[in-house]
Amino acid sequence: MFDVNKIRNDFPMFKSHPNLIYFDNGATTFKPQVMIDAVNDFYTSGTANVHRGDYELSLHADYLYDETRKLTAKFIHAEENEIAFTHNDTASLNQIVYGLAKSHLKKGDVILTSQVEHASNLLPWYRLDKELGIVVEYIPVDKQGRILLDEFKKMMRKEVKVVSLASVSNVLGSEQPIKEITKIAHENGVIVIVDGAQSVPHSPTDVKDLDVDFLTFSAHKMCGPGGVGIIYGKREYMASMEPQLLGGGMNARFHSDGTMLLKEGPERFEAGTPNIEGVIGFGATLNYLMDLGMDSIHQYEIGLRKYFKDKMKEIDSIILYNEDNPTGPITFNVKDVFAQDAAGYLANKNIAVRSGNHCAKILHEIIQTDSTIRASLYFYNTKEEVDRFVETVKEINLESAIGIFF
Ligand SMILES: Cc1ncc(COP(=O)(O)O)c(C=O)c1O
Repeated sequence: MFDVNKIRNDFPMFKSHPNLIYFDNGATTFKPQVMIDAVNDFYTSGTANVHRGDYELSLHADYLYDETRKLTAKFIHAEENEIAFTHNDTASLNQIVYGLAKSHLKKGDVILTSQVEHASNLLPWYRLDKELGIVVEYIPVDKQGRILLDEFKKMMRKEVKVVSLASVSNVLGSEQPIKEITKIAHENGVIVIVDGAQSVPHSPTDVKDLDVDFLTFSAHKMCGPGGVGIIYGKREYMASMEPQLLGGGMNARFHSDGTMLLKEGPERFEAGTPNIEGVIGFGATLNYLMDLGMDSIHQYEIGLRKYFKDKMKEIDSIILYNEDNPTGPITFNVKDVFAQDAAGYLANKNIAVRSGNHCAKILHEIIQTDSTIRASLYFYNTKEEVDRFVETVKEINLESAIGIFF
């Protein structure tokens, strides 16, 4: 039984901010005590570097760090040697783009992505466009940001080398048909990269079933600590892809003539001292989420979102941008009110949302507005919070929103 009130007791932020409604979970999430304790334990009684020391403290840190790699693999149905830790989802995506640029891509190759994407999945490709002459093309989407599969199929040709998409959009919550996209891509020899920043925290993920070549996500968006990103990559890529950073921990040996032999495991992408405490904290987070059950989390969130959407639809002054999407945030505007003014009104009432373009700066080409309010939920949010949110949104109009500034 998914008992949200019991679950909220696991999160100290609800105790320190009893009246806050936190609907900015797409940006980052609150942290459970078990994760905080794991990080605290490392600092207070377990501090040592990893993969470098032969004494007990260091070996114990190795054990905890490597355990998290195993847990991450289990969480997404991968193999342990297919998981590398970076600093965030952005770093993971940049590493993959850089690595593929070095080994798999050349001038004239085509990358397929979409106008719905976050900056982290567009800007690295734009740089390759400038520096290497690869061509970025956008797969057509519908008004709610969903890929049009038939259009995607039509774009397949020998120049297409990579398709790089978010499984769920951070603005519209559009859920892309990744399994179907991957099947079509692979039939045409195309590599598939999935930015899972907004899907992995919210629903079960099975990379074997999806058959994607790469998946990336960030720990901080799923109750984990900051500074931990994840790359899942199929073994063939993890063993040979060119790393972006060179240094300690990722080489097998090097010589004074400049030759070097790099490791073939995921450590290849973990040059220098990693975020050890973060990775260990993430291990505690993964155990916590698996105990709750990702399926239960997903079902609870779908129900809560539907409740939220139905209530928002009843408000005449609201423009909803993604009512058909069953997952993800509720993204809207109040008619005639600038999104940031409305968010300011909500902030004044102790409600945290995000407003603006949400780092998806070309999405306006699809939804015809630059700025929206995004209310993003997580499994610890409640119907009572939704009710209070909706009642507060009803109060917003041009006058009330501007009024908070005077
Ligand atoms: C879809 C998507 N991709 C990438 C990112 C970047 O994540 P991070 O800031 O953790 O690197 C975000 C963050 O909001 C996101 O929503």
